[in-house]
Amino acid sequence: MARIDVRHAKGSFRTPIVLASGPAGFGFELAETLDFRSLGALTTKTITPEPRAGNPQPRLLDAPGGAINSIGLENPGLDAFRGNVLPRLRELATVRIVSLAGRTPDEISHLAAALETEPGVDWLELNLSCPNVRGETMADRPNDVAAYVREARSASRRPLLVKLPSCDNLVALGEAALSAGADGLTLINAVRGLRICVDTGRAFLARGTGGLCGPAILPIALARVFEARQAFPDTFLIGTGGVTRARDAIEMLCAGANLVGVGFGVMADPAATFALAAEIEQWLDERGIGDVADLVGAAHRGGWSVS
Ligand code: FUM
Repeated sequence: MARIDVRHAKGSFRTPIVLASGPAGFGFELAETLDFRSLGALTTKTITPEPRAGNPQPRLLDAPGGAINSIGLENPGLDAFRGNVLPRLRELATVRIVSLAGRTPDEISHLAAALETEPGVDWLELNLSCPNVRGETMADRPNDVAAYVREARSASRRPLLVKLPSCDNLVALGEAALSAGADGLTLINAVRGLRICVDTGRAFLARGTGGLCGPAILPIALARVFEARQAFPDTFLIGTGGVTRARDAIEMLCAGANLVGVGFGVMADPAATFALAAEIEQWLDERGIGDVADLVGAAHRGGWSVS
């Protein structure tokens, strides 16, 4: 049987499938019926220093090929996360990536330092790309990205990922994150989108725009992961955006992702998401490919010949 575990010097993953931050919450409801050993990791909802109620309703909407959300980083805040959430997270049979956001680099430093001695926090992911909190965590200048990452790096020795948006200066942002001490990049976040009610002429979502997720953004995410793999041949990448099927995940690996994040897919069909790793394994076995690592970046090497 093919190997589907993903090895990294700072920690390994049982499979290449990661629950992306957001739709799976903290995983508890899913853990009642689904086997977390079929995942490589769970990424938590993003935690901020203080609790947040998120954006006003309505904040979730259908869109062609997916959905638009405007949740606005609703979360219980650091203290409740440590006291109520982490003890339950520790029981999940997978790697835990804790997603963090702050209004300033100092807030990131505070979060990272507070979690440094907590068991059960396996990796950190800095969310610098939420499309739903204007002017706050959307670090779109390399200097800002570097400032956030430096603070996290000096406050924590945990392996550190940085989640970046789909943007034309992605490589410059990635370079800034990696130079400041990130261990890898998560690409991409939901893409800003808008829908308007034709009966009223007004935006459907209370906040106007939101983040488009789902199959509609798969080609965008693939292009960004491909671009990042070209720029950073040896960097650890989580490719996320629009993956709902095993063949989407395989495309993401071929574009250059080491791990594949699933967000909208887990909202749409959690059981199908948890079955992805087994389907990838079967796909590899049918083709005599011995290790999922052999797929990573295949599109950069001219793919393979079909007999
Ligand atoms: O609105 C939200 O909470 C979304 C977060 C994200 O996409 O990072």
